[in-house]
Amino acid sequence: MPSPNEILSQLKKVKYPGFTRDIVSFGIVKDIEVAYAGVTVFLVAPSANPEVVSKIVDEVRGTVAAMPGVPEVRVEVEQPAPSPTPREAAAGHKREIPGVAHVVAVASGKGGVGKSTVAVNLALAMKALGWRVGLMDADVYGPSLAMMVGADAPVKVTPERRIVPLERYGIRYVSMGLFVRDQQAVIWRGPMVTKLEMEFLFNVEWGELDCLVLDLPPGTGDAQLTITQRARLDGGVIVTTPQEIALLDVRRGVQMFKEVNVPVLGVIENMSYYVCRSCGSRHQIFSHGGGERLARELGVTFLGELPLVREVREGGDQALPLVALNPSHPVSGAFKSVAARIIEELQKTG
Ligand SMILES: Nc1ncnc2c1ncn2[C@@H]1O[C@H](COP(=O)(O)OP(=O)(O)O)[C@@H](O)[C@H]1O
Ligand SMILES: [Mg+2]
Repeated sequence: MPSPNEILSQLKKVKYPGFTRDIVSFGIVKDIEVAYAGVTVFLVAPSANPEVVSKIVDEVRGTVAAMPGVPEVRVEVEQPAPSPTPREAAAGHKREIPGVAHVVAVASGKGGVGKSTVAVNLALAMKALGWRVGLMDADVYGPSLAMMVGADAPVKVTPERRIVPLERYGIRYVSMGLFVRDQQAVIWRGPMVTKLEMEFLFNVEWGELDCLVLDLPPGTGDAQLTITQRARLDGGVIVTTPQEIALLDVRRGVQMFKEVNVPVLGVIENMSYYVCRSCGSRHQIFSHGGGERLARELGVTFLGELPLVREVREGGDQALPLVALNPSHPVSGAFKSVAARIIEELQKTG
């Protein structure tokens, strides 16, 4: 018969459904009992989703049963103690970011869909609607915010060694790019990155903010999960493009936020269509409407579609984001209406 420790190391090979992280590191395995009659594995119900729970139970049973000398496997799932509200429960082990009233994370399944562009312009749109806004680029591997908003000042640190955000177009921002610029991005390894990100999240002297917009690294893997798990987020926004392949990632994004009890504020379809400059007509470059369809199917809000326009790209490349440069552009209007919906949603949930 294997020892509890041997069983535990086998269980480290069981991945949490939809994630690259295993169930042991997630803290789901509570105890392992080895007796003459067989092995009992005690799990803490990790999710309210019965499908996820039964998938984990099946995999645990299969993994342990496949070990030599195990006559029988029992899996006991303990329901977590009921708490006043799911939000409070989620907030319980999550850290607040000092001075910040709301935190909204912008996520995407992959890079290049315009996540940073949306994060920047959304932040500016919230500012235009009267909110005090901060923006943080948490993407070490491809930090682009510094370029998009123009990072021309050296980063300052307070005597208490807290990072002072830069200010541009009336919003405060910090970017990992300001710190790792001179280093090769490839030397940054997972745990180091996560540590740096946590330092960033909690060590910035934001002052008073109504909202901090977090530009998450692209993807829905461990780095994103760590951030969404440890910081008290008020909502997640998922950016996608209309291609089928990008839409698949929307599901993962929604699942990631749900697993960590962060409400999904909605899905934005970027580069949804192209407006011809000379004839003014609308061209569907990719199939269209998938974002809205999928949002409906997943039961989350569709926040809107943003066209592919040259001014957006130029603004990004020249540190002149569209909403700041040209507030009356129709696309700036689109960003503002998305921002207004998000603000409304955040005020509703408190
Ligand atoms: N709606 C849009 N219209 C035109 N160009 C866009 C649009 N959204 C993003 N881009 C451009 O696409 C590129 C990738 O966008 P970016 O925001 O860096 O993506 P991500 O952060 O998802 O990797 C940038 O050059 C950006 O200016
Ligand atoms: Mg980006």
